[in-house]
Amino acid sequence: MNILIVGSGGREHALGWKIKQSNKVEKLFFAPGNAGTAELGTNIDADVSDFETLKAEVLKNNIDLMLVGPEVPLVEGLHDFFAADAELASVKVVGPKKAGAELEGSKDFAKAFMARHNIPTAKYCTVAAANLDEGIEFLTTMTAPYVLKADGLAAGKGVLIIDSLEEAQNSLKEMLDGQFGAASSKVVIEEFLSGVEVSVFVLTDGKNYKTLPEAKDYKRIGEGDTGLNTGGMGAITPVPFADAQFMEKVEKQIIAPTVSGLAKDGIDYCGFIFFGLINVNNNPYVIEYNVRMGDPETEAVMLRVKSDFVDLLEGAATGTLNEKEIEFDDRTAVTVMLVSGGYPGSYEKGKVITGTEKVSDSIVFHAGTKANESDVVTAGGRVISVSSYGTDMNDALATSYKNAEKISFEGKYYRKDLGFDL
Ligand code: AMP
Ligand code: GLY
Repeated sequence: MNILIVGSGGREHALGWKIKQSNKVEKLFFAPGNAGTAELGTNIDADVSDFETLKAEVLKNNIDLMLVGPEVPLVEGLHDFFAADAELASVKVVGPKKAGAELEGSKDFAKAFMARHNIPTAKYCTVAAANLDEGIEFLTTMTAPYVLKADGLAAGKGVLIIDSLEEAQNSLKEMLDGQFGAASSKVVIEEFLSGVEVSVFVLTDGKNYKTLPEAKDYKRIGEGDTGLNTGGMGAITPVPFADAQFMEKVEKQIIAPTVSGLAKDGIDYCGFIFFGLINVNNNPYVIEYNVRMGDPETEAVMLRVKSDFVDLLEGAATGTLNEKEIEFDDRTAVTVMLVSGGYPGSYEKGKVITGTEKVSDSIVFHAGTKANESDVVTAGGRVISVSSYGTDMNDALATSYKNAEKISFEGKYYRKDLGFDL
């Protein structure tokens, strides 16, 4: 079958790498893809939010299955658009419709969903301009630090963690005044939870689900988890503290009630659910839901999926995941993200990347790259992810670090302390 992957990051390159291994695939396409995905399949010049162009390309290339990588087109209703179009009736779409994508598209929706289905999460209060006073008052009942979240999508920047009450009250007003545009016209105030985070992923057809390998992501730019938040500087799987006992709690208290909660609420959901969890004294709490795979977690997690991934995607799209098996590779897998100098602040693009051909024993996934005549150049903050297997975390990291040294571009930076907290 012909498959289209929507997106252009390391996640989409890694999904494509895994999908390409299936003998069910005839042709593979990416929209818009990057310089790395162009080596695996055909890049289509279409923005992820340009539904009409995506439709035209799907018809032109006889696409059987479209896998949507990022959240934005899902929250904008790409799946609904396909479902409503008779010409696209035979195309399978993996990625939830708008109603399900609200789990990521609205923090208020996600919190109310968890409250309704008894899923463990931080206490909260949702505030809009009309109940600002209630929000100011709610903050006085909490203890520092104060967590304020923009309700809508804010490209990973909409969460503020603030030490003083007065500052938190002022920030609440600023957010409601449009600090994050429409995304902060509502703000969720949350109880602060303290613990180590872990990312857990399932693929679901709305009734059945398969749990993928869990991963630990490193979000901060600086070593020792310091400095600004990024999209993610690297990932490790498996996560030692997520042992069988912990994962059983995750399954019983979080995964199963989420999937059955969607069904109870009448939301038909086909796609990934990414549970951003925090381990508080060995009990899992949901920090956030995402309606897609994680990036850079995917660049490590895909290395540990042994099963035919296209078979699983088909199972999700046709409601037959219960008939499928998922098998994991027992080895450790890691990914180390090489980023542009200055990221996550301002940085320059267009730097020539060299040395990827010298990499051995690692897999290179392109994140922000593009082909420029005969060169491959940087085209984003996160540039290239170097993924490796190992007998343990240190073994796998050593391989990725060795290969990260062989890749060059002006301003290259990566963290050398991944796993320091595990
Ligand atoms: P989110 O976008 O909701 O994942 O939040 C971004 C980051 O803020 C998370 O990865 C956590 O590190 C932190 N965070 C979010 N909510 C909380 C909370 N209730 N308690 C502690 N840390 C939080
Ligand atoms: N790595 C975190 C995310 O994909 O949101």
